[in-house]
Amino acid sequence: MLKNDQLDQWDRENFFHPSTHLAQFARGEAPNRIITGGTDCHIEDRDGNRFLDAFAGLYCVNVGYGRQDIADAIAEQARELAYYHAYVGHGTEASITLSKMILDRAPDHMSKVYFGLSGSDANETNVKLIWYYNNILGRPEKKKIISRWRGYHGSGLMTGSLTGLHLFHRKFDLPLSQVIHTEAPYYYRRDDTDMSEAQFVKHCADELEALIAREGADTIAAFIGEPLLGTGGIVPPPAGYWEAIQPILEKHDILLVADEVVTGFGRLGTMFGSGHYAMKPDLITIAKGLTSAYAPLSGSIVSERMWKVLEQGTDETGPIGHGWTYSAHPIGAAAGVANLKLLDELDLIANAGTVGAYLNAAMRDAVAGHANVGEVRGEGMLCAVEFVQDKDSRTFFDAEDKIGPQIAGELAKLGVIGRAMPQGDILGFAPPFCLTRAEADEIAGKTARAIAAVLG
Ligand SMILES: Cc1ncc(COP(=O)(O)O)c(C=O)c1O
Repeated sequence: MLKNDQLDQWDRENFFHPSTHLAQFARGEAPNRIITGGTDCHIEDRDGNRFLDAFAGLYCVNVGYGRQDIADAIAEQARELAYYHAYVGHGTEASITLSKMILDRAPDHMSKVYFGLSGSDANETNVKLIWYYNNILGRPEKKKIISRWRGYHGSGLMTGSLTGLHLFHRKFDLPLSQVIHTEAPYYYRRDDTDMSEAQFVKHCADELEALIAREGADTIAAFIGEPLLGTGGIVPPPAGYWEAIQPILEKHDILLVADEVVTGFGRLGTMFGSGHYAMKPDLITIAKGLTSAYAPLSGSIVSERMWKVLEQGTDETGPIGHGWTYSAHPIGAAAGVANLKLLDELDLIANAGTVGAYLNAAMRDAVAGHANVGEVRGEGMLCAVEFVQDKDSRTFFDAEDKIGPQIAGELAKLGVIGRAMPQGDILGFAPPFCLTRAEADEIAGKTARAIAAVLG
């Protein structure tokens, strides 16, 4: 085993870390954390520190760490058949079984699943399928995609464009011209603080209508949204939001993509966020919770209505020109099958609902009274605390003060990992579904202590 200082040096000299301040990291000014193991909701680092991982990695290790069943399924698949491709009708028992298990759990009107590796590539697939669909229907002008500010859909060229966070656009020449953004359904940050929640929903719907009118409905192919804004701040939609948005999309023949990379497979305490919020999507993006990140795997679930047109397209033009070498990789598929079985066997989605509600209540009790806590919000096993300089006037802190990252840093010193969300001073929590009430109390109690350490 390498000595810690050797590993630290190699890390800083060789490893390009995503979403990291590269210069500070290379100069040794930003810390590294080298993770060596994990069990249930806990991880350990190389220095022997143990943390309660209240963000489940990147809200993906939903069944918790150290699950033997999934490790065994991966090992068995690797021994039996580590790889075969899925092109021109090839498959494996694992990929076929997993497709069936996903469709059994998805809304009834969904028809097929295409497998990729990451949430980003699955959304890339979605955009290609949408463009193909409209070309087959003879509507070559109907191509723009509407996304929301603060939505997160990946960090590729197209998916980074769909993402509505400035960090992912700045200096990358994004967003691409085919992507347009509309109002985030973020009631707490509404411009007009006098607006009621219902008025704000109407405002979001009016903004969408106005955007469609400006651009022309015949140029707009689809609208993409997470059922609940995730990386943009963990923001449940205001009541009635999806009920207001969907009829507008239907009226203008605009497809709906539900990006369920975070919400899919139980994070809201229900199988899919689409069901949770009565959405009827044409495509559903899945990743993270599909395998609980034991192996990389994502998917695009395609509705029957779109599938019929894709079939028509291949009758007209030949096999669909889309696929990755690793589409439906058998090791990812084996992990997915074992993961979905485990979710059922241990009733973990119900636990995400009940213990998630308990965590949200405990967090509210522990921190909502603090002068700098503007809002505590969440749904299922998702919770966020938003910090403000002044609660009454709802004045936000200067981003340069880095209040969110400072509090996350203090929390880690207390042995709990929360995530400073990338835009705004928001501390996010998305623990594994096996969280206990005692662990929820620990997260809430230590968050209060971390807030006190930074803000008094
Ligand atoms: C809603 C959503 N969509 C897409 C992605 C991108 O997934 P990946 O990082 O696997 O590319 C993420 C990642 O956090 C996400 O939260």
